[in-house]
Amino acid sequence: MVGVSVTPIIALDVNSLGAALTLVERLGASARFYKVGSELFTAVGPKIVASLRARGLDVFLDLKFHDIPSTVAGAVRAATDLGVALTTVHASGGEAMLRAAVEAAGDRCRVVAVTVLTSLDGATVVDVFGRSGERNEERGKGVKIEAEVARLATYAHRAGIEGFVCSGKEAARLRASLGPSCTLVVPGIRFSDGPAHDQARTVTPTMAAQAGADYIVVGRAVTAATDPIAAMTRLSSELQLALKE
Ligand code: C5P
Repeated sequence: MVGVSVTPIIALDVNSLGAALTLVERLGASARFYKVGSELFTAVGPKIVASLRARGLDVFLDLKFHDIPSTVAGAVRAATDLGVALTTVHASGGEAMLRAAVEAAGDRCRVVAVTVLTSLDGATVVDVFGRSGERNEERGKGVKIEAEVARLATYAHRAGIEGFVCSGKEAARLRASLGPSCTLVVPGIRFSDGPAHDQARTVTPTMAAQAGADYIVVGRAVTAATDPIAAMTRLSSELQLALKE
């Protein structure tokens, strides 16, 4: 299901305030939404969020909280106080933790759940969590990741979560099962002729839009491009075209 708009979020995967702001200055008006992850936030602290907000930019604080409900509620409240628009928790933190996160955010910030990290395969999920969900008959062991993602997303949705991080390969299925009001955040974006780098499950901006993404998280396809502004222009054109179809 194609959505009405897709907003690119540029990943600031650097480890200093200077490097982050250099990238932001370079992209200028072409990018209005940035992702701050664990590396940058741990290195620099809340001042990176303050610097982005002071420039009128929106922030996705991707710290993937996973702790007891009161601690996560406090962390989400602190993130919300920083003025971030999106923040992440692990769906596997349990219903009480998810409800506490949503309540702490209120209507000031959207809590987005990470289901299964894309670095985990079906066998590792079983090693970590024990056996549950669908068997992967092809491999003879482990769980089917796609089924596990859908199961965890449904669980988190019942606990009040309205936003999900998922790969472009799973977005259409989640959109169909969770409905139009959910927010889908899709990383792993690559241009059709661009390098995959270390990513295995990539989609193009067009494919992400067609699968129903609301936000796409774009890192190296823009930040490592020889001409990042040209990459942003190409990204916008692809998205506009996909949404018109
Ligand atoms: O691969 P790329 O440089 O586009 O990654 C952009 C961002 O998306 C990175 O911060 C990475 O951690 C995040 N990402 C993610 N889940 C994935 C793939 C990438 O959160 N499956």
